[in-house]
Amino acid sequence: MKKLILFVLLALSPLAAQASGGAECGELGACLHAPVNAQDKASLQNGAKLYISYCLGCHSAKYMRYERLAADLKIDPALVQEYMNFTSDKIGGQMNPATNPKDQAKWFGAAPPDLTLATRLRSPDWVYSYLLSFQPDEARPYGVNNKVFKDVAMPHVLADLEQDMKPEEFKQAVGDLVNFMAYMAEPNRAERERIGVFVLMFLVILLIPVWLLNQEYWKDVK
Ligand code: HEC
Repeated sequence: MKKLILFVLLALSPLAAQASGGAECGELGACLHAPVNAQDKASLQNGAKLYISYCLGCHSAKYMRYERLAADLKIDPALVQEYMNFTSDKIGGQMNPATNPKDQAKWFGAAPPDLTLATRLRSPDWVYSYLLSFQPDEARPYGVNNKVFKDVAMPHVLADLEQDMKPEEFKQAVGDLVNFMAYMAEPNRAERERIGVFVLMFLVILLIPVWLLNQEYWKDVK
């Protein structure tokens, strides 16, 4: 019995560690939950479009290439090259607008960091909460502050979208954007999840002969 309890505790400990390691979201307290789904291609495509329209002007995502994006998100490479790739004349180019970080630091007071791995550095929930937490604040240079990242040097770049959309639609759009950012941070996640299902199915099936063998080996001993 003791062994069983120990086994269950050990098996659950990584879950507990993950739960307690959950991101802190500043004034907001607990972070909002980001709807990340690596299998949802429509959401990822919409997120890619939003990232390129609203973020890439300032934030590079230089560990990501347009070619890979086209292949993973199932978008025709010719369309990607024509409508999404404004930073390189090659489909194999990086998502890197090549703005000088030193100039950017002068313009904004802080350089906008590369965001390829942002959701791994911060967590998707943090980034989602951050993008949904811009508030009017006349004391700040852009007239906005952020509940999750106090006195942030980034303007509220999604303000137009937030005004034009119903709150639910806006949340959904930000969810798609964060879903895309989570994909960038781990492009083979969809594949990993797909293979994982087969591995688990294989183990379940393997259990049957293993259990039968166990019965066979022990039948004379018992
Ligand atoms: C006008 C330029 C500009 C645009 C456009 C912009 N940002 Fe920023 N962003 C910044 C700056 C500057 C910072 C650094 C803020 C600081 O350190 O105070 C920043 C910081 C961030 C951070 C925090 C990074 C960290 O971990 O410290 C995230 C996340 C982020 N931006 C996401 C986005 C997303 C997503 C978009 C597109 C919707 C976007 N940004 C568009 C300028 C921009």
